[in-house]
Amino acid sequence: MNVVETSNVVKDYGLDGTTVHALRGVNLAFAAGEFSAVAGPSGSGKSTFLHLAGCLDTVTSGNIAVAGKDVSLLSKKELALLRRNSIGFIFQAYNLIPVLSCIENVSFPLTLLGVDKNEARERSLKALAEVGLQGMENRRPKEMSGGQQQRVAIARALVKAPALILADEPTANLDSKTGREILELMLRLNKSAGTTFIFSTHDTMVMEFARRIVHIRDGQVEREERK
Ligand SMILES: Nc1ncnc2c1ncn2[C@@H]1O[C@H](COP(=O)(O)OP(=O)(O)OP(=O)(O)O)[C@@H](O)[C@H]1O
Ligand SMILES: [Mg+2]
Repeated sequence: MNVVETSNVVKDYGLDGTTVHALRGVNLAFAAGEFSAVAGPSGSGKSTFLHLAGCLDTVTSGNIAVAGKDVSLLSKKELALLRRNSIGFIFQAYNLIPVLSCIENVSFPLTLLGVDKNEARERSLKALAEVGLQGMENRRPKEMSGGQQQRVAIARALVKAPALILADEPTANLDSKTGREILELMLRLNKSAGTTFIFSTHDTMVMEFARRIVHIRDGQVEREERK
């Protein structure tokens, strides 16, 4: 089954009375279990694509199906449930909640899912240990480096074990050693739990790890590589 499938997806943004054409007819399908990267220069539409695939934004025209469901046919509530249950998002700008500690940030999605408090704490501690942040549970985001905040964001996406993880430039703020560890962790998860990963990236290391690379330019798919 395809986890994400787009047909003729167009995304325009209105900006100061002009229109920015971020995606210009994108047809892509990502099967369950893929470990794939969307690569392209700055402004080519990578984040836009991930936001649409993650049901965080809506298309201007065309269709997107996530987990076999045409998202335009889902109610707001159904979309929220789909996002909450099935999709983990690692944002380019982390999007951590500043007033919450590290462990509170990570357990937040579990709280939304109604997971018992003690279990949420256990699972969050485990996710934080997996990304190498044991001992930092009680720090606030502003008390951590950019790379550490990125790892909190990754732990937050991993903790609910979603079927699909969308990661917008997950290694951009990490040194290459940490970046490699994070990619190895994601690959292990892909192999053991079958989690589908779609990355956006400029990073050649992410492209080395990816099994498939979709190159986009000016909002269109330029070419693809499969390994
Ligand atoms: N909210 C927005 N309003 C207006 N224009 C936007 C908005 N978000 C993105 N854009 C524009 O859409 C195009 C695609 O942006 P996008 O963020 O998807 O690129 P990207 O490939 O992720 O770039 P980067 O590698 O720099 O993160 C760019 O021209 C950008 O300026
Ligand atoms: Mg981007």
